Amino acid sequence: MKRREGLAKLTGREPYVDDLPFDGGLWGATVRSPLPRGRIREIRFGAGVDWSEMIVVDHRDVPGRNVIKLIVDDQPVLAAGEVRHVHEAVLLLAHPSRALLRRAVRAVEVVVDPLPPVLDYRRPPAREQIQHGDDNVFKRLAIDKGDVDAAFAAAAHVVEGIYQTGAQEHVYLEPQGMLAWLEGEGEREVVVVRGSMQCPYYVHEALCYALGRPAERVRVIQAPTGGGFGGKEEFPSGVAIHAALLALKARRPVKLVYERGEDMAATTKRHPSWVRHRTAFDAGGNLLAQDVEVVLDAGAYVTLSPVVLSRGVIHAAGPYRCPNVRIRGRAVLANFVPAGAFRGFGAPQTLFACERHMDRCARVLGLEPAELRRRNLLRDGDATATGQRIDDGTDREALLDRALKLAGWEAKRTAHRSWNAEQPFRRRGLGLATFFHGAGFTGAGEVYLASRAHVAGLADGRVEVRTAATEMGQGTITIFTQIAAARLGLEPEQVVIAEPDTARVPNSGPTVASRTAMIVGRLVEKACDDLRRRLGVGDAAPGAAVVEAIRAWHRQHPGEEPVGEGRYEPPPGIHWDEEHYRGDAYGTYGWAAYVAEVEVDLRTYVVTVIDFVAVQEVGKVLNETLARGQIQGGVVQAIGWALLEELKVEGGAMRNNQLTNYVIPTSEDVPPIRVAFVENPYPHGAQGAKGIGELPMDGPAPAIANAVADALGVDPCAIPLTPERLMALVEGEDEAPVAGAA
Ligand code: MOS
Repeated sequence: MKRREGLAKLTGREPYVDDLPFDGGLWGATVRSPLPRGRIREIRFGAGVDWSEMIVVDHRDVPGRNVIKLIVDDQPVLAAGEVRHVHEAVLLLAHPSRALLRRAVRAVEVVVDPLPPVLDYRRPPAREQIQHGDDNVFKRLAIDKGDVDAAFAAAAHVVEGIYQTGAQEHVYLEPQGMLAWLEGEGEREVVVVRGSMQCPYYVHEALCYALGRPAERVRVIQAPTGGGFGGKEEFPSGVAIHAALLALKARRPVKLVYERGEDMAATTKRHPSWVRHRTAFDAGGNLLAQDVEVVLDAGAYVTLSPVVLSRGVIHAAGPYRCPNVRIRGRAVLANFVPAGAFRGFGAPQTLFACERHMDRCARVLGLEPAELRRRNLLRDGDATATGQRIDDGTDREALLDRALKLAGWEAKRTAHRSWNAEQPFRRRGLGLATFFHGAGFTGAGEVYLASRAHVAGLADGRVEVRTAATEMGQGTITIFTQIAAARLGLEPEQVVIAEPDTARVPNSGPTVASRTAMIVGRLVEKACDDLRRRLGVGDAAPGAAVVEAIRAWHRQHPGEEPVGEGRYEPPPGIHWDEEHYRGDAYGTYGWAAYVAEVEVDLRTYVVTVIDFVAVQEVGKVLNETLARGQIQGGVVQAIGWALLEELKVEGGAMRNNQLTNYVIPTSEDVPPIRVAFVENPYPHGAQGAKGIGELPMDGPAPAIANAVADALGVDPCAIPLTPERLMALVEGEDEAPVAGAA
């Protein structure tokens, strides 16, 4: 099936938030902190602006709690007294003229008395830098299995390494933006917000909390959204509150859309990471023990860091069989824009370390990288680091073999040797990564979400799928149409996908964690089944009978719709111990083996990915074009993270907040990406689907760094592997520090 909204997007007819009309409305803008940490002494409103005609909002205008509600109540809607990062929101302005508004933002001076900031999360804080608890640690997590110390004492080989990754900007196509207005009067007044977001019910909850309003007096509608990648998971809540505060003060509609430079400087980033591995093997190259320490740079506020750390530590040991595992993780404060959700959610960071380390181990052990992995990959019946027994029938060695074969690994290795010997300035290499990604929320998360989906029969006989799952370029509208049409025996045109509007759709949870097709799609199937039951139409009856029954229902019950509901139930046999971090961390996992081929120019130290193979098992592939797009997009985003994208941070602020100097991959940087799916339907996902969106972000970076190691005989342990860092490595200097916090 083709993308249902594809033509509207292709022709520019799709109305993004910046396209929405708002007659008689005002533009909003944000005044931000100039310093990474300090106390606000004074706010000066400069000359050249008629302040009497400007709407001005500060923390005193927040009617509920001055908190952006998420996990910990630490992040203010608007700074009140203290600031913790550059570009933190301090004041909001609104005016009908965008030009005057820009001048006004420049005319405000936020005077801050500086306090000592934390600029490097890896260094222990001095006493005067403490801002959270007694050590600036937002969250600690531990995983323990077996007896690690005894295993190290008995090891034939012990291999150590430290691996680091930098921050990453989402660069969604559409910047953050919200339109807010008021409907109704007095006690019936409703604040309505429409904008770019992944999670309407997160925005709804945060609005209720900050505005001090009951749920029915807040309504959130997702506008067509130009990309999210996690950047529109939690951040839009703050933008929505800001737009609503301005609309409440102005009593007029307000549109708040970030400029690209503002968006890049002021919004969340991928967590930078520092990961230390110490690994014990027996004489046969079998894993005996893994001792892993994970440190994430969380930025100035907690946001989602505890959950990102959770996924990070659970994936830190890789898809391997190891009887003794000790993982210690912590997410640490730094006075930088908060790190937040970003495709992969901690797993890309720890899997970079794990898979780069596996290659280092292979070299120490004198084994081929593929052979070391082959000996240690989980087989059915083995358990993960949390003790989750894997028994899904997927042959992970076969995935590896398929990737090696598709890449032409053996032939290319031989060819590279002679090619490299002949070339004066160029070297080629091959690198591998085997990895996994847990699908859906971690642990008991899906149970707490208690998601619901509805499928309603409309008067004309069509059905409407009602969920809070958002389309942001990944294909939700198309996939849900396929799922509902198949379940009810209808044509795609007979299925309508409701706009995610909290006044119309139930809370089916956030559009995150690779959960939409697998988990919410399954709820859509259940809602379809429930609709059939309510209509008295048997499971085997054709679509025409469903349509006829819907029409008959409307004739018999005027003004009342038949609605089927699907509610989340955990797959049987899933047990998670949140306290000890033991058990079934996810309902299921996607599995993958990726191979990168690179060419390095020794004059410029530029690394070019010249070929890429991505083999994965993601359950049943529901729409091959969309699935391949997810994989290719993830690989490209990971190429950027691995090689190109470097945040230049000075004085706690991103300095290269432009698309001219924050370099993301273009079509010039994209190799042929050969995608292969091995299908193994997951019984508890829609039509057998598992999650797919995040998996392809995990494997490419270590595969590419391993290929550079193969090409040059060096040991790159930090990304982005920019020409500067690679030159320092080859020429034997210390590696350049990883940007993102310092
Ligand atoms: Mo996400 S990074 O689970 O939107």
